[in-house]
Amino acid sequence: MENFEFYSPTCFVFGKSTENRAGELVKRFGGSKVLIHYGGGSVVRSGLLDRVKASLDKESIPYIELGGVKPNPRSGLVYEGIDLCKKENVDFILAVGGGSTIDSSKAIAAGVVYDGDFWDFYQGKRIEKALPVGTVLTIAAAGSEGSPDSVITKEEGMFKRGASGDAIRPKFSILNPELTQTLPPYQTAAGITDIIAHLYERYLTNSKEVEVTDRLIEGLLLTMIHEGPRVIEDPNNYEARANIMWAGTVAHNHTCGVGRSQDWLSHVIEHELSALYDCAHGAGLAVTMPAVFTYELPHDVMRFAQVAVRVFGCQMDFAHPEVTAKQGIEALRNFLISIGMPEDFESLGADPDDIPKLVHALCRGDGRDGTISGFVTLNEDDCTKIYKMMV
Ligand code: NZQ
Ligand code: ZN
Repeated sequence: MENFEFYSPTCFVFGKSTENRAGELVKRFGGSKVLIHYGGGSVVRSGLLDRVKASLDKESIPYIELGGVKPNPRSGLVYEGIDLCKKENVDFILAVGGGSTIDSSKAIAAGVVYDGDFWDFYQGKRIEKALPVGTVLTIAAAGSEGSPDSVITKEEGMFKRGASGDAIRPKFSILNPELTQTLPPYQTAAGITDIIAHLYERYLTNSKEVEVTDRLIEGLLLTMIHEGPRVIEDPNNYEARANIMWAGTVAHNHTCGVGRSQDWLSHVIEHELSALYDCAHGAGLAVTMPAVFTYELPHDVMRFAQVAVRVFGCQMDFAHPEVTAKQGIEALRNFLISIGMPEDFESLGADPDDIPKLVHALCRGDGRDGTISGFVTLNEDDCTKIYKMMV
């Protein structure tokens, strides 16, 4: 295991009706003027926004609102949010929605207290300072409610990039599994896929002797495989929703990633797909992961064989461990298809003719040097082959 520092100060408030505590929590974490940030309207339709506003009113905390965050959130609204917060002297950002809304909130929070262009953070500058952010989560997926990360798409060039820093970890996150019951099945499945991807990205490591985090990840993967189909079958299954929601947070708040190198190649390869086609991030990952894993397999056959045996119950073929490893990738692919996820470019709505464009944006876009690194290092030729495997 490698040395690490782990600082995860988010207060998680979990369970039924917990959104009614938003005001109390904003007050506890020092907010006196709030920007409520939300997406395309699901929180208006469900009545959640009104309940959150009522809880702020109860604490006599003034607020302003900014809706309209799109899935795969854009830089334009971030700039608008930064200006608004400065003008209105906002000192707390409350995200009500999914990963996109939370990420947009984090970007605004970092941008308000920064003199330069907030996009600097998405080009590698670490976020050291930000306004406090709280969240009321409505979809189990991105894990942004507990992560130090934010992913934004710059409209000029449509580059989708991430920024990081403990300063943007939410001060609190309200997790009420009931709120996820209004999700369309496709979004639920995309969320499940993203959570699984966050676990695999950490599982694929070059660090040795990381049994504790290996076992945590395997336990969470087993949970997802058990609960995923139950929630697709019955969207109102509160207990399954609850287990998925907490798994989604633990999968990505870094508990499972400490002390080990990680992969993240499926994510960066996918981000080009959701940037170009505006597909759900999880749906893009369903197509990306099997291709990336198959390509990475020769790098460490035993790692893929281990997850195949421990999570998917494959029989270990000691003479030919690559057979077991491939069975594990196939089992993952079949699971994702079974919950309604796409399996190739066509079912995702991607166009094979765009592969050169995707590879260029991935390897050269926005200042990159021609390679991307994770579990392995890939050049443009490797990335072209991987995208072709998805066709
Ligand atoms: O915009 P509204 O109307 O709210 O609708 C949303 C949106 O259309 C809808 N939705 C959310 N909760 C709902 C609901 N509809 C009905 N009922 C509910 N309870 O679902 C759609 C997707 O929402 P979004 O916020 O985009 O989903 P998700 O949480 O999957 O976030 C995806 C974004 O997070 C990024 C992704 O790249 C993508 O941009 N990620 C962020 C990470 C992080 N910050 O740590 C890590 C991830 O790997 C990921 O990259
Ligand atoms: Zn993800």
